[in-house]
Amino acid sequence: MPAELLCFEPSCRARYNIDAVLYSCPKCGGLLEARVETPAESADALRTIWRQRRTCNTPLDQSGVWRYRELLPFGPNTRPTTLREGNTPLLDAPRAAEYGGLERLTFKHQGFNPTGSFKDNGMTCGVTQAVRLGMKRVACVSTGNTSASMAAYASAAGLDPIIFIPHGNISYGKLAQALEYGARTLQVEANFDQILALVRTLAERLGIYLLNSINPFRIEGQKAIIFEMLDQLDWNPPDWIVLPGGNLGNTSAFGKALRELLEFGFIPRIPRLAVIQAEGAAPFYRLFSHGGEYSSVAAPETLATAIRIGDPVSWPKAMAEIRASNGVVERVSEQEIADAKAQIGRAGIGCEPASAATLAGIRKLTAAGAITREERVVAVLTGNVLKDPDYIYRYHTGQLKTPSGAPIHSTFGNQPVVAPNDPDHIAAMLES
Ligand code: F0G
Repeated sequence: MPAELLCFEPSCRARYNIDAVLYSCPKCGGLLEARVETPAESADALRTIWRQRRTCNTPLDQSGVWRYRELLPFGPNTRPTTLREGNTPLLDAPRAAEYGGLERLTFKHQGFNPTGSFKDNGMTCGVTQAVRLGMKRVACVSTGNTSASMAAYASAAGLDPIIFIPHGNISYGKLAQALEYGARTLQVEANFDQILALVRTLAERLGIYLLNSINPFRIEGQKAIIFEMLDQLDWNPPDWIVLPGGNLGNTSAFGKALRELLEFGFIPRIPRLAVIQAEGAAPFYRLFSHGGEYSSVAAPETLATAIRIGDPVSWPKAMAEIRASNGVVERVSEQEIADAKAQIGRAGIGCEPASAATLAGIRKLTAAGAITREERVVAVLTGNVLKDPDYIYRYHTGQLKTPSGAPIHSTFGNQPVVAPNDPDHIAAMLES
C-alpha cells in the first residue's frame, strides 16, 4: 500500500492521498498522520544500509533524517531540502546523572542541529513536502525555534517564509535567526495558542502552506531523532526516553517512531516516555494526572518560553503515545528548571531552558521512585545553550525572576567579576 494520510481518531480513520493539502480531517476535524509503507528490506538489511550511508558523502546520506528514508512517507523521486540536519551526539553526563539521582544519564543533544534545535529534523521534511506540492509561501506560529528553523529551510529551498511570533515572548537569539534567514516576521500581540488559530485561518484563505507540528510531515521528520538514537545505541532500547512537552509534536513523533521500529522488527520493546512540562504551562500534566476531560490553560506562563503553550494541538496523539509506552507526565517549577539547566551547563554540555526541564523532571521522578537509579535513561536536549543567553546571564548574576516576579535563587550561580588591569591584583584574586 502506498503512503497515505490517515485520520488519527480511532472512530474515523478516514484516508486521504498523501499529497492532499490538509492539516486536519475534513470529516471529523481530527489530527492527521502519515502512514508509511512497510519497508521492502528486512530490519537487518536496513540496519546495515543505514550504517553504510554514514560513510557516504551524498547530502541525502549525510542527513541524519534522510539516511532513514525507508521509514519516511516520501517516494524515490523526492528532492529533499537538507542542511545536513540530525547527526546529533549522545553525550554521557556523570555529574548530571548524579544530580538526577541516576547511575548513568545520556543526553541526545538536538542543539547540535543546523539552526540549533530539534525542529530541523521535522522542517527538512515539511519544507520538502511544500516543494513537492508546488507551494511558494510557508508559514508557522512559533515560540521561536520552529520559526528559526522554518526560515532557514524555506530560504534554502527558495520559498518565502512568513512567521508569526508572540510579541515580547521569544528569546532574541531565536528572533535574530528568523530575521537573518530572511523570514517575513510578524510579532503578534497574542499568545502562541491564539496565534495558531489565526495562522490556520490565514493559511487557508491565502493558500500558504502551514508548517506547524500539526503538519504530519513535520512529525515524520522528527521520528528520525529516535531512529538515530536507537542506531547510536546499537538498537538496544533504553528504559526511559525523557523529553520536554510544549505543543506535544515531539512526543507524538517519538511514540510513532518507537511503534514503527517495534512493528518492523528493529527493537524488541518500546522504552517508556516521560514528558516534562513547566508548572505554569502544564495542561498535559493535568490531564495525565487528574484524568477527566482535556482542558487548556488560558494564560500559560514560564521563562522556558519555548514551551509556553496552554493548548497543545497534538495532545490526543501524545496521550495515545504515553499510554502505548506506559509513560508518565511530570511538571517542574521555574526554580527546578533553572537549577537543572545550570547543572547541564556544568557538565560541559549546556542547553536552553525548555530542554533543562528534562533533568529537573528526572530528579523529581527518581526522588518519587518512578524511575529507579539503575535504569537506563536518555534525555533529549531540544535546543542549544546560545538560544537564550539573557536567561543565563540573569541566573548567574542573581537577577532571574519568575513570570510573576518572584526571585529565582541562583543556586549554582557563577558571577563574573570586574578586575583592574593589574597582574598583582589579579594574581591575589586568583590565589585567594
Ligand atoms: N524544547 C524546545 C527547545 C522547543 O522549542 C519546543 C517547542 C519544545 C521543547 C516542545 O516541543 O512542542 O513538540 O512539545 N517549540 C515550538 C516552537 C512550539 O514554536 O518552536 P513540542
